[in-house]
Amino acid sequence: MKLLSLIMLPLLIAGVFQKPDIQHEPGQVLDSGKNDRGLKDVFRFPVGAAVKIKLLRNNKVYRKLILEQFNSITAENAMKFGALHPAPSVYRWNDADYIADFAAENNIRLHGHTLIWSKGNPKWVTSYQGSREDWENLLKTHVQTVVSHFRGKVASWDVVNEAFDDKGNYKSCIWLEKLGPGYIESAFRYAYECDPDALLFYNDYGQEFGGRKLQAILNMVRDFKRRGVPISGLGLQMHTVLRMDAAKITRALRAVAATGLKVHISELEVSVRYKKPDSFQLDEDLAGRQATMYQEIFEAYNTIPKSQQFGVTTWNVADADSFRNSKIKNHDFPLLFDHNYQPKPAFRALMRENSRK
Ligand code: XIL
Repeated sequence: MKLLSLIMLPLLIAGVFQKPDIQHEPGQVLDSGKNDRGLKDVFRFPVGAAVKIKLLRNNKVYRKLILEQFNSITAENAMKFGALHPAPSVYRWNDADYIADFAAENNIRLHGHTLIWSKGNPKWVTSYQGSREDWENLLKTHVQTVVSHFRGKVASWDVVNEAFDDKGNYKSCIWLEKLGPGYIESAFRYAYECDPDALLFYNDYGQEFGGRKLQAILNMVRDFKRRGVPISGLGLQMHTVLRMDAAKITRALRAVAATGLKVHISELEVSVRYKKPDSFQLDEDLAGRQATMYQEIFEAYNTIPKSQQFGVTTWNVADADSFRNSKIKNHDFPLLFDHNYQPKPAFRALMRENSRK
């Protein structure tokens, strides 16, 4: 008896800590109803994901899932100013090149994110001392070096990210402070000079609320078009939440599409976390409501003209990787795949989406 329990004890302990039963291969598409392999095969526009370089390099399940599901990718952080240009005359291409090679080898579109932003800047930029001309030169050199480096590899750029606040004023940032609002236009012109074939986007969050911020962005577009500033698209980040009104999203998408520019839902996720305790787990009801929300967003996107549908990109792949979980682990469940890279109800709902090709 004693011997038996000695043998059983480790097994019991292992049982307690064992991961939940996985009945299928990670990343395998379940219940798609057809032989389609992934999201990229069922929508008539590109479906993308932001990718984290460490996971792309080291996590086979993550990599496989990206190959199965997506035909567009965005570097989550690897192309930001601080990552690419850590010192005045130092460029670090390694990680971003890895992503670019991965995209090229696998016939995946690469969206560049982001050339100019208030965040993600290295210390040498935020503490830089120089004349207005020096600042203009700094911005120009960065934009042109990066765009030239990726010419032919990056299909499109978020040229400027998050330049407006919620009231529709220019958001305070180092570029505004040193160069005035003209920095936005400059960045687009410099990017265009180096890669006239790349699609150039302005990207921002909260446009779905349709308030003064959206209005300010639409005004900027009208002005840019009138004066021939080369802008090709608007990116709506859409870090959204369950309680968001889907009808508002539809209205905003249509207003943005009315500019005639390409429209990218560029950083989609649907947070379910609102006012929940830290110990909270995703239950069936919330997962179902999240699935409906995802469906509604994709349906709304489908109502804009096909020629303007640049694509829908989720901000990373699985709940395990979501930036919403970067502060408190497993805090939220905003994406289409769960913490074990298994498809969630939202994924299955999209695969059943009636707006198939
Ligand atoms: C976030 C990344 O997901 C994080 O890993 C990083 O620490 C901070 O930036 N809007 C954007 C993205 O345009 O670049 C941000 O990405 C999320 C909000």
